[in-house]
Amino acid sequence: MKAVQILGERGHHQIAVTNLMARPVPRGHEVLIRVEAAGITADEVGWVEVYKTPTRIPGHDISGVVEQLGPDYTGTLSVGDAVFAMLHADRGQGQAEFAVTREDETAAKPATVSHAEAAALPIPVVTAWEALHRHAGLERGARVLVTGAAGAVGRMLVQLAALLFDAEVVALASARNHALLRGLGAAEVVDYSAADWEMHVGKVDAVFDTVGGAVLAKSWRTVKSGAVIVTVADPPPPWAFGKQVPEELQDHPGVRYVYFVLSTDSEALAKVAALIDEGKVKALPVAEFPVDEAVEAWELAAKRSRGGKVVIKFGSGA
Ligand SMILES: NC(=O)c1ccc[n+]([C@@H]2O[C@H](COP(=O)([O-])OP(=O)(O)OC[C@H]3O[C@@H](n4cnc5c(N)ncnc54)[C@H](OP(=O)(O)O)[C@@H]3O)[C@@H](O)[C@H]2O)c1
Repeated sequence: MKAVQILGERGHHQIAVTNLMARPVPRGHEVLIRVEAAGITADEVGWVEVYKTPTRIPGHDISGVVEQLGPDYTGTLSVGDAVFAMLHADRGQGQAEFAVTREDETAAKPATVSHAEAAALPIPVVTAWEALHRHAGLERGARVLVTGAAGAVGRMLVQLAALLFDAEVVALASARNHALLRGLGAAEVVDYSAADWEMHVGKVDAVFDTVGGAVLAKSWRTVKSGAVIVTVADPPPPWAFGKQVPEELQDHPGVRYVYFVLSTDSEALAKVAALIDEGKVKALPVAEFPVDEAVEAWELAAKRSRGGKVVIKFGSGA
């Protein structure tokens, strides 16, 4: 089958397309998906996991059709079902004509969007869902800051915080994205190009950070006492994984701080798929490339502020 491959070593990698990959076989409870489209997370070239797979096929976000069920599969999916999935960090291998998923990674695809649009959703959806539901402990009506709000994760955070928690969302983004963020539910918008943007945010109960670095550091100046700062930005802050205590804590004692890496969550995918089909959540903008242009696709995906997710198409379906 045809697949994208990461050749070389971390830091000296090369993106390639191969025709010679063996089609995977679903074992046990696994499901084989005929991949119509697969999303790109450009940071994956820096993760160790893909270099440990025998195939070196990247990709964790897919949308496609169930082709075959594993011999022990007893779940709800049937051959022919349209699904989307977020493959676990250790497994991946989604950017191929066929990929194997598990039930906890897979949900029915939102019917009102294309496979390309669905393939852009899983990581942003699950990341935003977990940040809000597992890590923030938000009360209804909380005032929250979302950094990188016009990015893929940011757009999901803005929409789900406003819709599910009735949050008053302050969206940090470049000015060209302010109107669209208001349309997604942001109550206020702030431009990060202003040197002192943090002075324009007011005080918040929670920060959801997707940018990291100086933006995360400045966001400490926006928090109320007892607030929480949740970041997913790559590279992680020095205090991630309990390695250190943030130095900002001296001036903001009592602020809770969380860095997390998302897990698989088919329930989150199913719930957000329903919200998309009900017209309550907007899918993400996508740039589509045929698999033979995967190198160009990865180049675009590596650019920040590109305004959408880059998706590789394997099938010819919508
Ligand atoms: N830990 C996890 O489990 C996890 C999961 C998913 C993603 N992530 C990480 O989260 C980050 C965001 O992912 P994404 O897919 O949402 O990225 P994305 O779609 O590329 O969005 C990034 C956004 O950041 C904004 N931005 C760029 N430079 C900025 C700066 N200097 N100051 C303020 N904002 C800036 C851009 O805003 P404008 O468009 O307004 O310029 C852009 O929209 C990445 O680092 C990714 O690796 C981690």
